[in-house]
Amino acid sequence: MSVRIEPSILSADFVNMEAELQRIATADAVHVDVMDNHFVPNLTFGPEMVRRVQAVSPVPLDVHLMITDADRWAPGYAELGAFSVTFHAEATDDPLALAARLRAAGSRAGIALKPGTPADEVIAHLDAYDQVLVMTVEPGFGGQGFMDDMLGKIRAVRAAIDAAGTGTWLQVDGGISAGTIARAAAAGADTFVAGSSVYGAEDPAAAIGALRAAAAA
Ligand code: DX5
Ligand code: ZN
Repeated sequence: MSVRIEPSILSADFVNMEAELQRIATADAVHVDVMDNHFVPNLTFGPEMVRRVQAVSPVPLDVHLMITDADRWAPGYAELGAFSVTFHAEATDDPLALAARLRAAGSRAGIALKPGTPADEVIAHLDAYDQVLVMTVEPGFGGQGFMDDMLGKIRAVRAAIDAAGTGTWLQVDGGISAGTIARAAAAGADTFVAGSSVYGAEDPAAAIGALRAAAAA
């Protein structure tokens, strides 16, 4: 299985973003956390910032929307050129329709599950999604500890993807480090978000390499 490492700019220096993006040029994508202070108790940035990140990033954008009104805002991120746009299952009444709109707008369609949200609904409609994000922390902040009790959900989604043969990517986000990534990979994740463990390192490129090696081991 191929491994994708996607550093999160939530842990980057926001006023030096262009340089911070260059530091992770060896990554597969950059993970962009949009928070609205309603869906989660934290606030980051919106479409204009993401448009600028898209313009200068050396790698494709993986946008993670932690916002209440996903139906209103998600397609705009696809239209500005994001490679992948992930909304939360808890933030829309019609995830299938929203995923279809994202694909029509030219991006991959992702659906995210908070730790307390079961995977059953997503598992029943895997063909609608290019990526399933199993959150391994409560969304909102970087630097939290990896929730080992999410490993069962990761395994269940992996089994369903393999049974359905959809090739859907299985992403994990929260607490991913060289110490935890192997457990997530063994459970079936193939796409790994890492914020503090990459941007908190002296050498982000080396940290990306170490994550890649540990996931593949
Ligand atoms: C948290 C965000 C994550 C965050 C992860 O709600 O969705 O993407 O940046 O940070 P770490 O890797 O430090 O847990
Ligand atoms: Zn995220």
